[in-house]
Amino acid sequence: MSSTSSALNQALEATLESRAKRRILRRLPPPSTPTATTVVDFTSNDYLSLSISPHLHNHLLTTLSHSEHILGSGGSRLLVNPVTHHDLELRLATFFRHTQEGTLLFNSGYDANVSFFSTVPQPGDVVVYDEYIHASVHDGLRSGCRAQKRVSFRNNDTTSLISVLEGLLDENDKNGLGLRLRNGTSSLFLAVETVYSMDGTFAPLKAMIQVLEDLLPCRNGYLIADEAHATGLYGPQGRGRVALEGLEGHPRILARLCTFGKALAATGAVILTTPLVARYMTNYARPLVYTTALSHLAIIAASCSFDMLEDGTAEALAERVLGMSRWFSKQLREQLREENIGTEFLRVGIEEFDKEEPERSSLHFHSPIIPLLTPPPPSLTENKSYSPAHDLSSHLLTKYRIHARPITWPTVPKGQDRVRICLHAGHTEEQVAALVEGVVEWGKMRARAVQEGRVMVRNRL
Ligand SMILES: Cc1ncc(COP(=O)(O)O)c(C=O)c1O
Repeated sequence: MSSTSSALNQALEATLESRAKRRILRRLPPPSTPTATTVVDFTSNDYLSLSISPHLHNHLLTTLSHSEHILGSGGSRLLVNPVTHHDLELRLATFFRHTQEGTLLFNSGYDANVSFFSTVPQPGDVVVYDEYIHASVHDGLRSGCRAQKRVSFRNNDTTSLISVLEGLLDENDKNGLGLRLRNGTSSLFLAVETVYSMDGTFAPLKAMIQVLEDLLPCRNGYLIADEAHATGLYGPQGRGRVALEGLEGHPRILARLCTFGKALAATGAVILTTPLVARYMTNYARPLVYTTALSHLAIIAASCSFDMLEDGTAEALAERVLGMSRWFSKQLREQLREENIGTEFLRVGIEEFDKEEPERSSLHFHSPIIPLLTPPPPSLTENKSYSPAHDLSSHLLTKYRIHARPITWPTVPKGQDRVRICLHAGHTEEQVAALVEGVVEWGKMRARAVQEGRVMVRNRL
């Protein structure tokens, strides 16, 4: 039997073809190296440019040359528990002002979220999550989570959160969910990201904690803060937005997730939680129990990155990249305005196009992630093959050698296609200025085409 005609192959092909027709087929990008000089990377999460830092590179090699154990780890943490791993936990507990017993390493942020959300919520509990929460939280909720209910609220919207919570407190099902939440016999977990990966916006942590305290006075409301895109970038020594807002150790924050794979240019993650929750996950979290622990090499690499955080290197780099973000957004908005390129073609960031809040001059209100939203104008909707986000991305790549990926549904909601810009501390002013130029140039072409009623064809990447 030829493999192409098997029922399995036909089913798989048909599904992939359907994805391709809907322009949502995923494929691996062409192989590249972080130091490739032909294309400027505005796509990866290497916000501090640590992955290409000669300093970190040399530091790691020197540390490795003095390390007794480098290769492998020998098995699950529950089987081997290498000293290297234990020592990193001790160190991270001190660094993050946390208890050592509540500091638990995971092989990735994905594993950490799946571990927490699949195990910690108990029968009768509720998980309330931001509508843009990461897929790993959803996967945790799907992996045997015993919570009675999971409900979403609108992204970063405390009014929406309040109305969801009030709805739950009024819930009069046969198990009396509302009553149990009110008398504290059920718990409520609130899952947020401190920086949203597609939008570069921030969860209003203090306001959300206040909502939990006001509506759940029995103290049974717990915030779970995913700091994947904040670690290394915000707060003293890059300890994240929880630290930035002075919330380290706050009793309503049950868990903080810091990952090592983005700004830290390493791999792995740590959950900072209570000793009891850590013990519970050590017993029940399958992505912790049934997997080989990170290699010594990975732990040493993460530890070297934390040296960069501890010695202030990261803070200086964070200041540079956030300053660049402020400059980029301002320049781009000004130039688009000068060229009369309206928000129906291109919108910089999630904020209102012209909104210039005075307090946004502070670097902490900026993020290295800047979405360039590319709404489809009504006149072009008949041409289903044209994707403005793909077109902008392709324009930047072909003319400016700038790599900035288009992001479309289902990664972002329908109608919110965008090119996501990820700035890095290592970008030069010239590179960022070229990005502004390329985006404005595309905006002009696009506005002209729409005004002239021309139907665009998709510029394939
Ligand atoms: C918000 C968020 N949480 C968790 C993860 C998973 O982290 P890791 O890449 O370490 O698995 C990611 C990465 O994509 C993320 O963006």
